[in-house]
Order: sequence, then structure tokens, then C-alpha cells
Amino acid sequence: MKIVVLNGSPKGDMSVTMQYINYIQNKFKNHELKIINISQRINQIEKDKKTFEDIIHEIKFSDGVIWAFPLYVFTIHSNYQRFIELIFEKNVVDAFDGKYTSVLATSIHFYDHTAVNYMNSICDDLNMNYVDYFSPEMYDLRKEDTQKNLLQFAQNYFNAIENKVITLKNYNPIKYSPNKYIPEITHHKIDVSNKKVVVVTDSLEDINLKNMIHKFRNSFSQTIELVNLQDIDIKGGCLGCLKCGYNYACAYTGKDDFINFYNSKLKTADIIVFTGAIKYRHLSSTWKRFLDRGFFNTHTPSLSGKQIGFIISGALRQIPNLRQILEAYTQWQGSNLVGFVTDEYDTSIEIDQQLYVFSCNLIKSSTVNYIKPATFLGVAGMKIFRDEIWGNLRFPFVADHNAYKALNVYDFPQKNYKSRIRNFIFMLMCKFPSIRKKIYSNQIKSSMVVPLKKIVEDTTI
Ligand SMILES: Cc1cc2nc3c(=O)[nH]c(=O)nc-3n(C[C@H](O)[C@H](O)[C@H](O)COP(=O)(O)O)c2cc1C
Repeated sequence: MKIVVLNGSPKGDMSVTMQYINYIQNKFKNHELKIINISQRINQIEKDKKTFEDIIHEIKFSDGVIWAFPLYVFTIHSNYQRFIELIFEKNVVDAFDGKYTSVLATSIHFYDHTAVNYMNSICDDLNMNYVDYFSPEMYDLRKEDTQKNLLQFAQNYFNAIENKVITLKNYNPIKYSPNKYIPEITHHKIDVSNKKVVVVTDSLEDINLKNMIHKFRNSFSQTIELVNLQDIDIKGGCLGCLKCGYNYACAYTGKDDFINFYNSKLKTADIIVFTGAIKYRHLSSTWKRFLDRGFFNTHTPSLSGKQIGFIISGALRQIPNLRQILEAYTQWQGSNLVGFVTDEYDTSIEIDQQLYVFSCNLIKSSTVNYIKPATFLGVAGMKIFRDEIWGNLRFPFVADHNAYKALNVYDFPQKNYKSRIRNFIFMLMCKFPSIRKKIYSNQIKSSMVVPLKKIVEDTTI
């Protein structure tokens, strides 16, 4: 069989992910895995009609398609996403119709599930036969059980094609036909006082988005800055070169304006409102490029303490995966998510009210420097980074290591000597059944609240 592998790594053949594909190819010599470098060649693919058509031709006459890609900031690389946009924009969806497909993603398991969900939903939108995904940690191929399971994953995939198995659909098509939003209500203007508010967008083509942005900016007594990513000189997507790892110096430094924009507009803001229109289950690839290029800050939070909100045109309520990505992004950044306003309402008045409350909440939270605690999204994500930067990834991510020391990210429990001594004493005491019974039946519940009660009852705090 001939399988087309769409390579999502900006590093082309020099890709970790492709080693997994090469491994499969070596073990299944009876099938051809034809690798096409997508992310690395996106400029040519987008500009040169023939290059794009040749790829689509390969797909059309293949027995199946493997989406093989590295995780990039919660999903896929912006260039890979651009390719997906081109499939829909250039109306070549037919080439994918009914093709058997699987997803192979390498990562450090930071939000690999949202990337897999996203790709699965795109495959369902393309009416492909989605067989399965395989999402190993980038160096797992060194492990025998991963090698064995990878081959099993490939075998299952080939079997599915040969036997024309029925595959499971996981996502419904998006149904979205918004009413035109035209602002109707005029509220009292809100004073931003000394807060710096920045609105960032990727486009003003979507009328509802444009009107929502306009209404939001008009809610305030002062002028609110609007930055359109299209007006910033951004030479390209993240190269994946990891030059930034040593001291946050991106390979694009001095070559375009992205870093200057990020540092001067976003890092200095108190309140940031990200706005965009949903395109094929994510914000646009322009937005994705923003997220990827933001990686010049590597794994160090760069928007800590800020209030963040989203104004979105599109069916966000039907894409909980995207909502989770955006929420996780704010938590990982150490900022406070104030909320989302979308155009999924029956009337313009409802959107007016949502925007007004949203504006008030942004200012209120900023005034008192409110940051709600991170949920699993932020806490778990940070623990993955903490362990990786402490261990495997300390080199090349030297800048992260220094920042994590300064920010007390290395809060490993093993350094907590007080709890280690307490655990030792209690574990020892519990070896005696009578003491154990007493502790577990009478003391656990009350002892759990003791440290908190102390704070509650201390009137000086
Ligand atoms: C800019 C950038 C963003 C990344 N984002 C993520 C991420 O969100 N989650 C994750 O687990 N790994 C992330 N990674 C790690 C890569 O996914 C991982 O190293 C992958 O194996 C690289 O594969 P490749 O060599 O095929 O490009 C990121 C790496 C880079 C350079």
C-alpha cells in the first residue's frame, strides 16, 4: 500500500517525529510511506499552485494518510494549520473523503490530548476514516514497549485499510449561522484609570468580530489600543531551532518586529483582550503563529499577573477543546482568565450586555490584582515543565532553568523536610495496629483542618 505521511515538523527530515515514521517504514517494507514535508515548505505550498496540487494528487491516489507532527503550543505548528486551512479554502476536501487516517504526534505530553482532539475533529470534518492516534513522549522510541506498541499501531492501521473496517466518528460537524451583531445599547463609559488595556486581533474582516471589538473599545472613557497582527512584520513561523533555549534570543531577533511587539505591547499591559474568528476548530493560523512565536519565552510564563479575556466570533461552545486550550494558555502564563464573549446569541442586546459586563470585570479584577488559582490545566501543565526543565530539558533550556529557580517553580515535595519527617513518624506509628486504628478512625479528619483553622482563627491575618 502507499500511505502519504504529512510531516508537520518545521524541521523537515531532521524531525524527531519522522524517526517514528522511519521506524515503521523499516519494519513494514511491503508498504510505502511517502513523507511530504508540509510545515517546512508551507510558503512554497501556499504560493506555488502546482506544488499544492501535486500534494493533493498524492493524497487522492494514496491508500491512506498519516498526520505525523510535533506538538506546538497546545496543537500543531502554525504552518501545518495553514495547510489545513488551505484544504478547506481551496476546496480540495474531496481528496480526503473516505481515506483511512491515523495521527502520530510526538511531544513532552504537554497538552498532547488537545492536539489529538483537534486533529481528530479535522479528520472527521474531512470525512476521513479516523482509525487511531499514537502520542508518545518524544524519546519513548528508545523503550522496547513503545517500539512494540508503535508497530501494533501501524499494523492496526494497515489492517483497517485492508479490511475496510468501519471507524468511529467522534465529532459532529459545527453548526454555526450567527445573527449579525449591531451594537444597540449604550452603557455608561468605564474608567480604565491607570490600567493599560490592549486588544489584539488577527483580522477585522469578520463583521461580528469587528463590531464586537468596536463596541468593547467604546465601553471605556479612554482610548483603547488595538493591534492587528497583520500590521506587524512577522517574517515566518517558529523554526523549532531552540536557539531561544539559552537566553530567550529568538532566531528572528533583529529580522522582524514580533519580539518587539510582544515585549513592548503585551508584557507591559495590565489587561489583554485576544480577539479572533474561529476557523476550522481553532483561531486562525495567524493566531497560531502568534502562539508559536511566543515560544521565544520558552517555558517561562511571560504574561504573569495580567487579566486576560477573549472576544470570539464563532461556535466556541461547540468546540470545548479550543476553550480548554485558551483557558490552559492563560493559566500556564500565570494570568487571570476573566472570560469569553462570543457572538453565539440570538440578539445584539445580549452581546452588548455580555461585552459590558466583561469590560467591567476586566477593570475590577485588574484594580485589585485578582488572580484565581490555577485548576488542573495550569497546575498539571506546570508540573510537566518543572520536571522536564529540572531533568531532561535543562539543556538546551538553560534560561528556563534559571527562571524556574528564581520563580520557585522547583517545589518538588522531596525538599519539604517537615512533611518528610511527619510522614516518617506517622508511617512508623501506624505499623502498630492499635495506634493505626486510633489515627485512621479518630484523628485524620480533624487533623486535616488544623493547619487551615489556625489561619482562619488568627485575627491578624
Ligand atoms: C515552539 C515549540 C512548541 C512546542 N510546544 C509543545 C507543546 O505544546 N506540548 C508538548 O508536549 N511539546 C511541545 N514542544 C515539543 C515538541 O513537540 C517535541 O520536541 C517534538 O518531539 C519535536 O518533534 P520534531 O522534531 O518532529 O519537530 C514544542 C516545541 C517547540 C520548539
